[in-house]
Amino acid sequence: MTNRRLVTITDNASGSSVECEVLEGVHGRSVLDIRALPSKLGYFTYDPGFASTASCSSAITYIDGQEGVLLYRGYPIEQLAEHSSFLEICHLLLYGELPDKARWKEFNAEIRRHTMVHEGIRRFIAGYNHDAHPMGMLVGIVGALSTFYHDTLDISDPEHRELAAIRLIAKLPSIAADCYKYSIGQPFMYPINSLGYVENFLQMMFSVRAEPYIPSPVAVRALELMMILHADHEQNASTSTVRLAGSSGANPYACVAAGIATLWGPAHGGANEAVINMLQDISDPAEIPKYVERAKDRNDPFRLMGFGHRVYKSFDPRATIIRQACHDLLQDLDAGNQPLLEVALRLEEIALQDEYFIERNLYPNVDFYSGIILRALGIPLNMFTVIFAISRSVGWVTHWMEFFTADDQRIGRPQQRYVGAARRDFVPMKDRG
Ligand code: SDX
Repeated sequence: MTNRRLVTITDNASGSSVECEVLEGVHGRSVLDIRALPSKLGYFTYDPGFASTASCSSAITYIDGQEGVLLYRGYPIEQLAEHSSFLEICHLLLYGELPDKARWKEFNAEIRRHTMVHEGIRRFIAGYNHDAHPMGMLVGIVGALSTFYHDTLDISDPEHRELAAIRLIAKLPSIAADCYKYSIGQPFMYPINSLGYVENFLQMMFSVRAEPYIPSPVAVRALELMMILHADHEQNASTSTVRLAGSSGANPYACVAAGIATLWGPAHGGANEAVINMLQDISDPAEIPKYVERAKDRNDPFRLMGFGHRVYKSFDPRATIIRQACHDLLQDLDAGNQPLLEVALRLEEIALQDEYFIERNLYPNVDFYSGIILRALGIPLNMFTVIFAISRSVGWVTHWMEFFTADDQRIGRPQQRYVGAARRDFVPMKDRG
């Protein structure tokens, strides 16, 4: 007798039933395997936005939206934020374990060997207008990376897959910095591999040939924290896009380019840029009630950017961590951002006392404070989502790689509920009146 847990779904109209197996996870909700539903009962399930649908089994990240829990490969985000580094977390996500000393040395060397980009990419960048949004540049450039690596695009080869992951993690900062340099008309800088991952990115962003830029340890730590917190987040829209693209057999650079395009949206990764624009529009705390009322008005498309989350129905643990870092950083770096922080703190206080937000479990998410930190670091607004993309690239490539090791994955192809015109015959033009 197997100890399979079953749920029976019965169609009262026909009296037919189907038994669906309950599949347990290590943490979180069990899932109902409904794959027999169409053949046994003749129905598809309907779940716009996939709010109730598990698209895959994954061992990478776990979120408990009620308890505000976020684990990367089982480690709580609070502990990783305090004790780890972004590059160490890249190893953790990619390989499932924190590296020992020997492996850490080896992994660092692997990443450092791939930080430069083909010089052709720099000519590619020159094709964009100077006022091109860096996210638009990033989508194109990352997608074009595959044209430089014909010899290692066999996605059935684990070594090719791993090399693509290493290349993307190593090169995103260099490409992002090049996009920024191009947008301000400054010469590109090259990676300095003796520097740490985050420090190297900052020097490529802010150094000029005439004088080096030595980032303050406070700035490096703040950006490191941001990147740790944005590295992965289960099946969010951009990660689901990368998985879906990967399921067709598309090359990893094209898949990550699709993820970058999805992240760009203001409802997703573009929210950090939208939060700053919103805080600047509000500018005066006295204006906050007006904006809160607009956010509550169904007829007004305005929403409080940085508020709400599909999964977190309590505080986003990343927002809690970033909120504290905001305070610490602004003490050290740039009081100029204090007014924005004051508006943000007051907005948070007012919204969290408002019935509309309380009954909908709308709390600040990771993007609510991240923009203030990035602005204090001197990162321009149109680079905010690019920073998010650099960080999330490790999540994207890890999920892309996980797809290939899953025994139940196939090309993603959702069904639909058709509500269009009933079948009808073609009417020639002469008979259409
Ligand atoms: C990220 O998925 C991830 O993990 C994403 C992310 C990651 O790490 O990958 O965490 C990163 O994308 C964070 C979210 C950043 N986006 C924003 O801050 C944009 C503002 N937030 C909203 O657009 C919204 O909250 C979403 C998109 C984040 C979540 O949308 P849902 O889950 O589809 O929620 P919903 O739109 O169904 O909203 C439920 C209700 C609605 O009201 P009613 O129809 O019930 O009356 O809450 C309201 C919404 O109108 N609502 C808001 C609101 N967010 C939801 N009202 C005002 N302001 C808001 N921000």
